Amino acid sequence: AVEQTLSIIKPDAVAKNAIGEIYSRFEKAGLRIVAARMMQLSREQAEGFYAVHKERPFFNDLVSFMISGPVMVQVLEGEDAIAKNRGLMGATNPKEAAPGTIRADFAESIDANAVHGSDGADTAREEIAFFFRPEEICKRTL
Ligand code: CMP
Repeated sequence: AVEQTLSIIKPDAVAKNAIGEIYSRFEKAGLRIVAARMMQLSREQAEGFYAVHKERPFFNDLVSFMISGPVMVQVLEGEDAIAKNRGLMGATNPKEAAPGTIRADFAESIDANAVHGSDGADTAREEIAFFFRPEEICKRTL
């Protein structure tokens, strides 16, 4: 089915000037960008977005990293978009990411791992609503 998923290009990949290359991977895979915003997250926003991880030992490092520079936030739409985006990203830890995936090609570490993508339909809905109002998501047709 056609789905929407939330994607974030993290500060490390933005700093590497890799936004275009990553967008090109989305587009070549048939995913359409239907909303996008570059933003500097506040500590409160980063903590809110990753609230599900707040008891994890890596939470503080994760939040500090996510506010270390601007991020690019987008909604991707397409057939099976959630799984497709996860396939393009590769494993969370770039050392385990398959060759040719975004994390294998652009990420340095499990913290600075280039991209985030929603992990399921419920999270996708929540994460999209965290960043975008419904009217900010554009309708695209073939
Ligand atoms: P992301 O998909 O953005 O979701 C949470 C992030 O926490 C994850 O990517 C990683 O960048 C980061 N992280 C750091 N350490 C870990 C860990 N041990 N397990 C999972 N995620 C981690």
